[in-house]
Amino acid sequence: MRKQIVAGNWKMNLDAAQSQELITALKSEKLSNAVQVAIATPFVHLASAVSQTKGSDIGVVAQNMHQAISGAFTGEISAPMLKSIGVNTTLLGHSERRAYFHETDTMLAEKVNTALENELEIIFCFGEELEQRKSGSHFDVVSSQLRNALFHLDTTQWKHIVLAYEPVWAIGTGETASPEQAQEMHAHIRDVLASQYDDSLAQSVSILYGGSVKPSNAKEIFAKPDVDGGLIGGASLNAADFAAIVNAF
Ligand code: 13P
Repeated sequence: MRKQIVAGNWKMNLDAAQSQELITALKSEKLSNAVQVAIATPFVHLASAVSQTKGSDIGVVAQNMHQAISGAFTGEISAPMLKSIGVNTTLLGHSERRAYFHETDTMLAEKVNTALENELEIIFCFGEELEQRKSGSHFDVVSSQLRNALFHLDTTQWKHIVLAYEPVWAIGTGETASPEQAQEMHAHIRDVLASQYDDSLAQSVSILYGGSVKPSNAKEIFAKPDVDGGLIGGASLNAADFAAIVNAF
């Protein structure tokens, strides 16, 4: 059975007091035991989030990390730094990192390697832009994003990878991919994994959907057979909404 996961990506939101308030509220919500729940807070809140969630079932995830393990990279955060404060998972490849911070597939392949060498789990994000969907190249775009950043990995390394398909046109826009569009792409992703590796690997990797998931649409998206959960932006900033999405499985 694949892991079912709902992760909140807080992006660059909430100050320290608001972060603590949200975690307190989240801890008081009843969250389904069948689902792994995580929050990706801004870097400055990670350490307090780790201590605040200790003993709960809420995991704490970084939103990014640098590909080098240390050095003259002003303003950056490394994998060993994350590990040293008890963070064991990071997002990589979010479309906002790709678009605004010029992260390329090559750079992401390096980040993936560094994360794995430092025993971090990875939630790897990817997805096509609106123009690519309109021109019908979305399947090829997604295949090449996966190939360029992840297909050098061996089967054992894939145990540490969760995929998050996030069509850029559905992020923060209120426009969700339909459950059918999500299912179609997730099935495509499994096909690509099966042809690069094998069917058993393709069936074992959890694939999350992200892009305007809300309490009102989570159930029908999560009901699709190849959707194993969600990466939630805006709705993860409200404890009741996030809990409703977790409990939509
Ligand atoms: P929204 O849920 O706000 O559309 O954001 C999705 C996302 O980018 C999660 O990483």
